[in-house]
Parts: sequence; structure tokens; C-alpha cells
Amino acid sequence: MEFIRPEHYSPGKLKTAQGKSYGIGIIGCGSIANSAHLPAYRKHGLPIAACCDVSEQAAKATAEKFGIPFWTTDVRELLQQEEVGIIDLAIHPEPRLGVLRQIAEAPRPVLCQKPLALDLQHARELAREADRLGIVLGVNQQARWAPAHKALKTVLEQDLIGHVYSIHHHMRAFQDQPGWWWTTMKNFNIVDHGVHYADLCRHFNPSQEEWSRVHCTTAQLPGQNAVDPLIYSASVEFGPAGGRNPLMASLHFNNIVKASRSHSHTWWVDGTEGSVWCTQDTLYMALNRHKNVIHEIKLKGSWFPDAFAGSMIAFINEVSEGRKPPVTAEDNLQTIALTTAMVLSSQEGRVVERMDVLEGSVSL
Ligand SMILES: NC(=O)c1ccc[n+]([C@@H]2O[C@H](COP(=O)([O-])OP(=O)(O)OC[C@H]3O[C@@H](n4cnc5c(N)ncnc54)[C@H](O)[C@@H]3O)[C@@H](O)[C@H]2O)c1
Repeated sequence: MEFIRPEHYSPGKLKTAQGKSYGIGIIGCGSIANSAHLPAYRKHGLPIAACCDVSEQAAKATAEKFGIPFWTTDVRELLQQEEVGIIDLAIHPEPRLGVLRQIAEAPRPVLCQKPLALDLQHARELAREADRLGIVLGVNQQARWAPAHKALKTVLEQDLIGHVYSIHHHMRAFQDQPGWWWTTMKNFNIVDHGVHYADLCRHFNPSQEEWSRVHCTTAQLPGQNAVDPLIYSASVEFGPAGGRNPLMASLHFNNIVKASRSHSHTWWVDGTEGSVWCTQDTLYMALNRHKNVIHEIKLKGSWFPDAFAGSMIAFINEVSEGRKPPVTAEDNLQTIALTTAMVLSSQEGRVVERMDVLEGSVSL
């Protein structure tokens, strides 16, 4: 049985409207731009028209490394380049509002790095401002395009495992290196890195139902470098309280595992007719009706860098046809509400309701 092929989960191809320029102008030439965005665009043949960074050294070095025809330290100069049809915003959340206002002087669709913001209030402000300024704003939740995650989603859409009742994420990694920005960022493991898994938990849910409430616990090691906990465990409920709803999710991320040989990253999704699960390079499926069979598919490609091309290609294909971005700011507010609720839950030792976060009766 062939239920998944590489074309189902690979980044795909640009299908832009004729005559329009969709050269990429990247703002922010830091670590992720150099290690993932630009290598992905180069690998998959996406046109990179210009780059910009407040640091001259970063902008120049990035242009030289990737053969980018124009570099600058001034967003306005980047916007003057006619070849720039799309803005790839790869800076941290704090300066984004100011940069969006500069982009409004010559608007282009903007694909903004995740997290849209570190808390819901700031994310809403960015979404409202983009709307007011007439800027199409998409969020780069590119983990949705990681081969393993896209393949898993594709299988779920084929409706092979019946009614989905459990989504489980288990990840073991290490990000407590001193000197990196993430060790000084408040609640980094949940609001920044963990936002991928909160978002995927929503993305993998085949029903339209949003999460309802969450209980999250964290732990902090004595002597760790990071200012906040690097382990969380979140139980996510859907539907009414009472423990009888036919779907739940559990998300566990231990990001301070020093024994690197024990690192792993797995999603399990269980349905009434079978189960599908993945590591980052293999997809598995077992169906109730084929008791002795496990389907095992080795996947091509990897999250870094391929997902960054997949996310950009999907964004350009949608906005060039006048459609909404694949991940709108509005959709992303539900993900950020979940990470906000996870932090509040762990800090206050209680269950936090989605509606309380969205209505602003509780906030970070
Ligand atoms: N898998 C992922 O999706 C992933 C992974 C890592 C980082 N990120 C996100 O990407 C963003 C950037 O992370 P990073 O690791 O590249 O950070 P970084 O600190 O290495 O780079 C940020 C760059 O932005 C530049 N910058 C700051 N303000 C600017 C402005 N106003 N105009 C132009 N340039 C400006 C800085 O000079 C710096 O070069 C963060 O939001 C982070 O959460 C996402």
C-alpha cells in the first residue's frame, strides 16, 4: 500500500502569477537566516533579491555568503528594490512593530518568523497594525512543512486511522548553552521553541475544534544557564470540562538532556482504526485490521532546511493569487494563546482556560 510519496511532503514548487516579481527581501541576517532560511532558498531555487540587517557586518557577510545582489542596513533601501516582492522577516519580536511601519511605506506581503510575539497582547498588536497598514502578514510556523510533520498531516487527511482521540508529542534535546540569546529569554522553552509543538498540536487535530484548557508543569535545574525552565509537560484538553471529550493532547519537551545519545523527537497520533507516528526521518502506521503489520516509510529531506522552503513556497503561492497566507496572524493567536496559557499554568499551578486568555482576564 502506497499511502505517502515524497511529492506529498516535499517543499513543492512556486506557482506565481505571470509577470509578478516574488524575489525575497530578507530582513534580519542572524543565525536562523544564515543557517536555515537562505540555505533552503538556495537549495530549492527561490530567488533572493536583497538582504538587510542593522548590523552592516551581518548584512554584508550574508550577501557575500549567498551571492545576494543587494545588501543594506536600511529597510527603506531594501523596499526601493523592485525585485523585492516578498519580505522575509527574520528578526526577534521586539523590533517588529517599527519595521512593519517602515514596510507600510511600500507594502509587500510579510512572512514573519515564529513566534509572532512572545505574548498574546504583543501578537495582537502586530496583527492589528499589519491589518491597519494594509500589509498581508503570515507567520512562519515552518515546522508544519518539516517532512515528517507534513507526511503525518497528509496521512491524517486520508482518514485512515478513524476518529483521532490522542495526540502525543515527546521530545528530548539540549539548549542550555551559555552565551546564546535563548538562555536569557524569559520562558524561552515554551513561548519561543515550544511554540512549534503547541502549533503542531493544533495543526494535527483533524477536527475544527480549538483547544479549551491546559495544565502545564515545568522544572528548573539548579545551576542551569537558562533563566527559566527548560522542561515542560502540558496536558491539553479539547471540548467541555469533565474528562469525557473524545480528544486530548499531551506535550512533553525536555530541552536540558545532557546525554545527547538519548535525544529523540516523536509524535504519536491514535485513532479508533489505527495509529500513525513519526520520528524526524521515518513515518510509521499500524491499522487495527492488519494486526501484524507496521508500515514504515523512510522520509526524504529534513526540517532544517527544507521546511523553510516549504513554508515560503506555500506563502508565495497563496498570496500571489490573492488568497490568505497558509498561517494567518489570526490563526497564530490561538497558538500563542496556548503558549501563554502554558506559562501561566506552570507559574500559578492551575488549569488555564483558552477563553480567559483570549478575553484578557489573565495575562503574562
Ligand atoms: N525553527 C525556527 O523557526 C527558528 C529557529 C531559530 C530562531 N527562530 C526565530 O528567528 C528569529 C531570529 O532568531 P536568530 O537566532 O536568527 O537571532 P539572531 O539574534 O541571531 O539574529 C537576529 C538578527 O536581526 C538583526 N536585527 C535586529 N533588529 C533589526 C532591525 N530592526 N532591522 C534589521 N535587522 C535587525 C540583528 O542584528 C541580528 O543579526 C527569532 O524570532 C527566533 O525565535 C526561529
